[in-house]
Amino acid sequence: MLQIKDVTVKFGGLTAVKNMNFEVKKNEIHSLIGPNGAGKTTVFNAITGVVDTAAGDVLLNGKSLISLNTNQMIYQGLARTFQNLQLFRFMSVYENIYAGYVHNYKKSFISVFFKQNASFDQGEAFARVMEVADMMHIRERLGSFPDQLPYGILKRVELARAMASDPQLILFDEPAAGLTNEETKEVIDVIKLLQNKGKTILLVEHDMNLVMKVSDRITVMNFGEKIAEGTPQEVANNPEVIKVYLGSH
Ligand SMILES: Nc1ncnc2c1ncn2[C@@H]1O[C@H](COP(=O)(O)OP(=O)(O)OP(=O)(O)O)[C@@H](O)[C@H]1O
Ligand SMILES: [Mg+2]
Repeated sequence: MLQIKDVTVKFGGLTAVKNMNFEVKKNEIHSLIGPNGAGKTTVFNAITGVVDTAAGDVLLNGKSLISLNTNQMIYQGLARTFQNLQLFRFMSVYENIYAGYVHNYKKSFISVFFKQNASFDQGEAFARVMEVADMMHIRERLGSFPDQLPYGILKRVELARAMASDPQLILFDEPAAGLTNEETKEVIDVIKLLQNKGKTILLVEHDMNLVMKVSDRITVMNFGEKIAEGTPQEVANNPEVIKVYLGSH
């Protein structure tokens, strides 16, 4: 479903990602792991066009994503969450999730938001926000603003916003970072639930317990390059992976 082909990303003299190649198959949970600074978030940014690629291509269902804007990507069925929360501070939780839904439409967010778009179904939008809010157990938080909520809830709001557009492929960048064990269990349940609903997931996460529990396949990066790929068991037994992980602690 998603093909990363020979992707290279440079920041000045630093090559953050070098000739990355991997594929995410439909309905699989694929994890991208590696030590801090390995280039995982940069791969996400290359996929979603947040950074320019120096070389290579990214294909979703055979179509290149390079040069599409965010709305066009969402329209193609892609959504992501950010390692550092990127919620709208001056919008309620409801409005933040609604913004994720509205992006599903080719129309501009502003015109839909101010109801100038006759073809947009407000009732359907409301129902969708409620559905994802229930999935993330945040219905009673819909009227709150981000500043009023603890971190664990905000992470769930961000997941809800990503899911609001009903994407086929969801990119999660460290969804469990900073969460308690209980909250992490909820994230595991949500990821599995999404897979059961037919979604495809690309996950970056440092919590190895989570990664080993949910992943069908794992790609391992170090210093911008792929060093291993396989099932959780194959990767866990790979000598180079063991060396990188033991060496980084
Ligand atoms: N916008 C940027 N400008 C310059 N260098 C950057 C930029 N973004 C990332 N880098 C560098 O690229 C490398 C890869 O960073 P990246 O954030 O992709 O790593 P990561 O694997 O996501 O790490 P972490 O697990 O800590 O989130 C690092 O050396 C980082 O400092
Ligand atoms: Mg990162």
